Amino acid sequence: MADVKKIAVIAGDGIGPEVVAEAIKAMKKTEEVFGYGFEFEHGLFGGIAIDEKGTPLPEDTLAMCKRSDAVLLGAVGGPKWDNNSKELRPETGLLGIRKALGLFSNIRPANVFDCLKEASTLKPEVLEGTDLIVVRELTGGIYFGEKFRREGENGQEAVDTCVYNVNEIERIVRQAFEIARTRSKRLASVDKANVLETSRLWRETVIRIATDYPDVELEHVLVDNCAMQLLRRPASFDVIVTENMFGDILSDEAAMLTGSIGMLSSASLGEGAFGLYEPVHGSAPDIAGQGIANPIATILSVALMFRLTFGYHDAAEAIERAVKEVLDAGHRTGDIAVDKSKAIGTTAMGDLIVNAIRK
Ligand code: IPM
Ligand code: MG
Repeated sequence: MADVKKIAVIAGDGIGPEVVAEAIKAMKKTEEVFGYGFEFEHGLFGGIAIDEKGTPLPEDTLAMCKRSDAVLLGAVGGPKWDNNSKELRPETGLLGIRKALGLFSNIRPANVFDCLKEASTLKPEVLEGTDLIVVRELTGGIYFGEKFRREGENGQEAVDTCVYNVNEIERIVRQAFEIARTRSKRLASVDKANVLETSRLWRETVIRIATDYPDVELEHVLVDNCAMQLLRRPASFDVIVTENMFGDILSDEAAMLTGSIGMLSSASLGEGAFGLYEPVHGSAPDIAGQGIANPIATILSVALMFRLTFGYHDAAEAIERAVKEVLDAGHRTGDIAVDKSKAIGTTAMGDLIVNAIRK
């Protein structure tokens, strides 16, 4: 057996625990089939941690993540905590864990599954061949800049500051160039350099680093234009790199091209192999506890973990193949089913995929 990898599991809120359970089943199947070994440790995070421990990111959960090789996250949040003060919001825990674990790079692939093309709101001929990755800076910019309120001449004012230093830009841009190199060698850097100073530093840095990657074709796209081009010519994008808030918005837009947010995985990485893996979708409180959530995004997040953190390419491929096989056979959870009356539940979908994992 290969050395045992420590997996920190933070299932979180809403459908988080349901989808994470299926992903763990898939990991256990790869232990049998490929001889890998995993040790799972569970911790509280998000709304449930607020309820039980009075904070969204308890110290022991963070410590558990720090001593693990990778983190598997379900989802956090829900209406119950929406009106809480900032310190007692699940989202604050999410930003806190990204920062505390040094996860500055968020990778969100958006690829259109052929058999699910009809699920998108876009025309199939526009989507044809869409397979892109949004690389989002995750620990800087307006999310983490100073924020405060003050009394102004015309009443209360609120201030959010956006700060980027050149090192923060450089490390994420280099990573995006490296990823582009492993794919079709096209990189779109997205900014708002016609208005924002942080974007001007971003663009200067990208241009400087590009000289190290002459084999990668680079385009600079203003963020508003990018939002438009994503709908108009999605297939022409390969890797998109951008700052934190632009990446937040564009990755949701990119996800929707596929028509099936229940299918999309993501990775958050730092300097080394360690990473945090989670589905792009949220905690879906409206369907939580009903056993109908789509577990595929979380299962595919495991495939990403195998590839990016452990280099277990055989098992990653086996999982991706299993998902495709099950979808090609026509099995659907409610979110991606055309005929909702034939939809299957979370565990049924998980079981089908697990059974299809083979060498
Ligand atoms: C995401 C989410 C988070 C973000 C929220 C929940 C804080 O939208 O991961 O994209 O804005 O980063
Ligand atoms: Mg978001």
